[in-house]
Amino acid sequence: MSSFRHSPSSDHFTKVELGQLLFFDKGLSLDSSVSCASCHKPEFAFSDTVAFSKGFQGRLGLRNAPSVMNMKFRDLMFFDGRAKSLRDQVHFPISDPNEMNLAYEVAIQRIAANPVYAKAIMQLYQTLPNATNVADAIASYEETLESSETPFDRFMSGDTNAISESAKRGRELFLGDKAKCFDCHFGPDFTGDEFRNIGLYNGVTDKDAGRFDVTKDPADLGKFKVPGLRNIGVTGPYMHDGRFKTLEAVIAYYNNPSAFVKQAVNIDPLLTQPLNLSKQEQEDLKNFLLTLTDNRFINR
Ligand code: HEC
Ligand code: HEC
Repeated sequence: MSSFRHSPSSDHFTKVELGQLLFFDKGLSLDSSVSCASCHKPEFAFSDTVAFSKGFQGRLGLRNAPSVMNMKFRDLMFFDGRAKSLRDQVHFPISDPNEMNLAYEVAIQRIAANPVYAKAIMQLYQTLPNATNVADAIASYEETLESSETPFDRFMSGDTNAISESAKRGRELFLGDKAKCFDCHFGPDFTGDEFRNIGLYNGVTDKDAGRFDVTKDPADLGKFKVPGLRNIGVTGPYMHDGRFKTLEAVIAYYNNPSAFVKQAVNIDPLLTQPLNLSKQEQEDLKNFLLTLTDNRFINR
């Protein structure tokens, strides 16, 4: 924990320290009741524990709050990619009526009226608080939330005892043709930042069309940004609508999507046949996923 808490020692802030203060500041919501951290809780790898988070006056959002760790190398933001970067993302939750419900310009005015923030921003950016430098400070803080010290990382750097035999078998499954996870969850953070459709949209009972809402391209119907899987053991519930409470349920879904969703529209060809994973193989996959947890934040 200590290496992650940036406690300002003097009245000279770094961008990261300033961004941390803003991330935890409820003053960025209309009635000063909600901060970024209300939904992105540090002890759950900066995600929330409920399917839909409560924002301004208890209003529920439309999607599950994902982890904001390991965002540094992400491309587009949100499940549908509607924000172009981590910096571009910041104003969305502040002005969203279901989340913080404060016009972004008003949030900037509040920050400008706070002598500590105003002074820090003048020192760091040589200008008054504005839409750009406030977003930059918050994003700079988020960019420090990179995980690395996991059993999986120790295993990859040569410590063969860092993960169990079951997790090793799970890793082989994850990478291989039988479970096919790596076809979508690839790269150091287990995402290639693509939009893919795993079958959770049918237009009738499951109506969130994902990427399609941004591009209006029928080929994007039901596609969602592939989430990274670091810290996945602590970021449940899972998927854009938080429909699965456990990793067991996620893996059971991938094992046979058609048993869960009727008439999925535009489902990825990789997922049209059951995987036929045995109970032991499903357990092995789960044990592999649990090696991706960076315990430095988990301070419960
Ligand atoms: C009321 C709950 C709530 C609050 C408050 C909130 N968020 Fe979020 N956050 C969400 C939800 C829900 C999503 C996913 C929305 C979507 O994909 O459409 C999200 C998505 C994100 C993402 C994109 C992650 C990704 O994988 O694409 C980032 C980054 C983020 N939030 C940062 C912030 C910051 C910074 C603040 C404060 C300025 C904040 N959030 C406030 C609920 C919240
Ligand atoms: C065709 C691409 C694809 C394949 C193959 C795939 N995934 Fe996914 N995965 C996704 C997408 C897209 C999502 C987000 C879907 C959503 O939110 O509706 C996702 C979500 C998840 C989540 C939930 C993440 C979160 O934060 O809520 C987990 C866990 C997961 N996948 C694990 C796996 C495992 C294990 C496998 C192999 C058995 C696998 N995935 C195979 C694309 C894929």
